[in-house]
Amino acid sequence: MKKNMLLIAVFLSSLNVLQAQKLDIIPQPVKIEQKEGTFIIPSSVQIFVDKKIQKSADYIEGNFFKNTGIKPIVSIGKGNKRDGISFLVDEKINLPNDGYELNVTKKGVLIKGKSTNGVLNGLQTLLQICSAKEVKKGTIPFVKIEDYPRFEWRGMMLDVSRQFFDKQTVKNYIDWLAAHKMNIFHWHLTDDNGWRAEIKSMPDLTLKGAWRGPGEVLLPSYGSGNKRYGGYYTQADMKEVVAYAAARGISIMPEIEIPGHSRAVTAAYPEIGCVTTQETKSVQGEVKNVWCVGREENYQILDSIIREVSEMFPFDYIHVAGDEVNRANWEHCPKCQALMAKEGFTDSFQLQNYFFRRVQTIVDKYHKKTNGWNEILKGGEINPNTLISAWQGINYGIESAKRGYETIMMPGQYTYFDMAQSENERGHRWAAITDTKRAYSFEPIPDSDLTPDQQKLIKGVQGALWSEYLDRPTRFVEYQSYPRISALSEIGWSKKEDKN
Ligand code: ACM
Ligand code: ZN
Repeated sequence: MKKNMLLIAVFLSSLNVLQAQKLDIIPQPVKIEQKEGTFIIPSSVQIFVDKKIQKSADYIEGNFFKNTGIKPIVSIGKGNKRDGISFLVDEKINLPNDGYELNVTKKGVLIKGKSTNGVLNGLQTLLQICSAKEVKKGTIPFVKIEDYPRFEWRGMMLDVSRQFFDKQTVKNYIDWLAAHKMNIFHWHLTDDNGWRAEIKSMPDLTLKGAWRGPGEVLLPSYGSGNKRYGGYYTQADMKEVVAYAAARGISIMPEIEIPGHSRAVTAAYPEIGCVTTQETKSVQGEVKNVWCVGREENYQILDSIIREVSEMFPFDYIHVAGDEVNRANWEHCPKCQALMAKEGFTDSFQLQNYFFRRVQTIVDKYHKKTNGWNEILKGGEINPNTLISAWQGINYGIESAKRGYETIMMPGQYTYFDMAQSENERGHRWAAITDTKRAYSFEPIPDSDLTPDQQKLIKGVQGALWSEYLDRPTRFVEYQSYPRISALSEIGWSKKEDKN
């Protein structure tokens, strides 16, 4: 008899496990305990939103409705009525940053976050449960979840230069990231083929540099054809998107590409580039796409650009690139050569390092920190608080951490979602053919001789969607992004041992 009871108990608990698995939350929560029974959502359910997260009340209301079909009555404050749903910020809960607890019982639903972002992470879990195929509409299974991220930085980059994506598309993209508990949107705002961010002190960056086609300063490229193609975001647009993202727990890191990938800049303001008699081409085949390092006025211009960008984006970091600079330009430019001679440089990477040390002085002046692509580490040391985006491979991230820099792992071989997903599909191939399984296999803290302190410098993971090939067909952005972002979100959030 005892044995039978035991068997029944084992059977029931395995049922619970099975049910819990059915909830299929992505990214997989740290601890999930499903219990028997369901909470029935009243048709006029009350939702209480802590004042501390008031900015997200509309988002919570709208998405609750979208995922349950039930229109809630939302009030701001710490209510805790029976049959209600409460969203509370509680800094004292014993969980890592941005963690949350979600409790669904017969009394109602309580979501407690360690921070406002913690609450939003809990909201995303609740929304996934409410919209799961296995869950009866209008009900929420009893469940107790304790959850927190493995990494503090879970990001995704979108290139809006090679193709321009309007404000609404960017907002949609941010919504998908939020749904996956990702917290950083890296907005690649400028590149050779279009400058997309209005800078009031340099109006031609967008009046001219945002457009390509017949009679424009930029030639057609990446499928833009024999027509005027382009677009840009006004400062009001960018502030609106920043606020939209903030309500969803996402910080936006703007990227201003310097000193390379700058054809749009020199097309609008030719004096910013080097004076060369010999044309050399960048990796992408662009000419004249490098800022002159020896032209002193350029640092005034950079000051005004960085000032305006700092005013629009409250996030701590500005990304100032540094990748794939065609340094041959500097080798043919008298001003750059004169500066090299004056500083006693023997190598053009030292000139690049000089450039970034000056840029960092400006970034510091506006109370921001610098993020750069891994090439920014060449030619000498830079400010120790620089964050490195390691894109060329895992080893570049290891090197960055060994040199003591905080590092984001985003190796193109795993996390560049512009790579084709199979042999027969559109997309780049230079890094790898990256299907979801390959993307999911990426481990941000590689087996290496990094010390525990160096491992801690790896702040997180990021994916990137470069847009050279995204001109068609429509919805190709989504096709390239999913489900690989789902895989990435789990790498950034879930425990390594829960990977499945
Ligand atoms: C890069 O992919 N050029 C950063
Ligand atoms: Zn020059």
